[in-house]
Amino acid sequence: MPVSNASHVLVTGGTGFIGSHTVLELINQGYKVVVVDNLCNSCEEPLRRIEKLAGLDHKIPLFKLDLADRDGLRAVFREYAFLSVVHFAALKAVGESVHKPLAYYRNNIAGTLNLLEVMADFGVTNIVFSSSATVYKANSDGSAFREDSELGCTSPYGRTKLYMESIIQDVVNAEKGWNAIMLRYFNPTGAHESGLMGEDPMQIPNNLMPYMSQVAIGKLDKLHVFGTDYNTRDGTGVRDYIHIMDLAEAHVAALKRLPANQGYEVFNIGSGSGQSVLEMIDAMSAASGINIPYSKDPRRSGDIDTILCDPTKAADVLGFKVSRTLQQMCTDLWRWQTNNPNGYAKQ
Ligand code: NAD
Ligand code: WQD
Repeated sequence: MPVSNASHVLVTGGTGFIGSHTVLELINQGYKVVVVDNLCNSCEEPLRRIEKLAGLDHKIPLFKLDLADRDGLRAVFREYAFLSVVHFAALKAVGESVHKPLAYYRNNIAGTLNLLEVMADFGVTNIVFSSSATVYKANSDGSAFREDSELGCTSPYGRTKLYMESIIQDVVNAEKGWNAIMLRYFNPTGAHESGLMGEDPMQIPNNLMPYMSQVAIGKLDKLHVFGTDYNTRDGTGVRDYIHIMDLAEAHVAALKRLPANQGYEVFNIGSGSGQSVLEMIDAMSAASGINIPYSKDPRRSGDIDTILCDPTKAADVLGFKVSRTLQQMCTDLWRWQTNNPNGYAKQ
């Protein structure tokens, strides 16, 4: 149901993969959106596609700004009255973070500190934060993670998420009136069903599904299946994949809950069921009609057998459940990939 008296929502990282799909969903739900993004891993084109899909007669305001630029951020807050902030902006490559920890701590944590300080200065005290399943300590039995499962991560990237959650929790505890919702995403994939929006990796993808779709379209030779000796049903890693538009809807559900003055809350956002790498290859081969070539390679350092989401709390409290199937994830991803073989760049 569209919100009444919509005020502006600031979306940091709103031109990125998850941010852009969420911006579309927010606009479709009646929110007025302002985007801040330094375009370090994205471009402006998704906003043009959103304007087209949502039938907007104006441009979505975009401030090309690094969160490091506190004065720039202050100017944005002076120009718009924000009800809430959805904070996506971050560096997110796990492997890169191992080699460049300081860049990750500086970008993700210092950027978040600036954002929180400016929010506080302007009395904006509602935030939805992009966290990750990576904050959970690996378990050996493959059971689904609940929000109260033990935390602990192995990469600097993961630690930035864990520390940012703690920083936000401290702010909520220290100052009355703050409402913060941490969304711990599992494995987002797919694309908007129009084929106009999707994930557009700037380099060779690190993640399974964008890599696989580039193999299917012939940009990459073959998929490397990292590890076939895991303790799973077929020996390959099992993950909980979620359609990007389901994930976008989860943000709207979180935003609607924020003004309820619940303080600090954490929710897992996933489907509750897991697929192995080989099952994902089968699903994508079926969606694309292409026999995806792959080799069985050694394990990737840092990976574990199974990462599964227990989505019960999000269902009970946010009323959020995924509604799209694995087949839809693959069909939509393939439509995006074939319609936009070069991503958002001019074809
Ligand atoms: P993305 O790289 O596509 O989007 C992030 C956006 O933030 C980009 O547009 C980038 O240009 C911008 N950005 C980065 N640092 C910035 C800064 N200092 N100032 C301004 N803009 C900045 O990534 P995504 O997949 O859309 O991820 C969004 C969020 O979700 C991130 O916080 C990520 O850590 C988190 N997350 C992603 C996944 C996933 O698998 N994609 C899973 C769990 C959590
Ligand atoms: C999925 C499965 C791989 C690539 C990562 C981050 C996590 C979160 C989501 C941000 C695993 C296998 C992969 C390939 C493969 N991001 N694989 N060949 O590792 O579950 O999660 O993205 O917060 O923090 O760690 O996702 O897509 O990389 O891997 O066989 O070329 O696919 O081993 O089993 P992951 P993924």
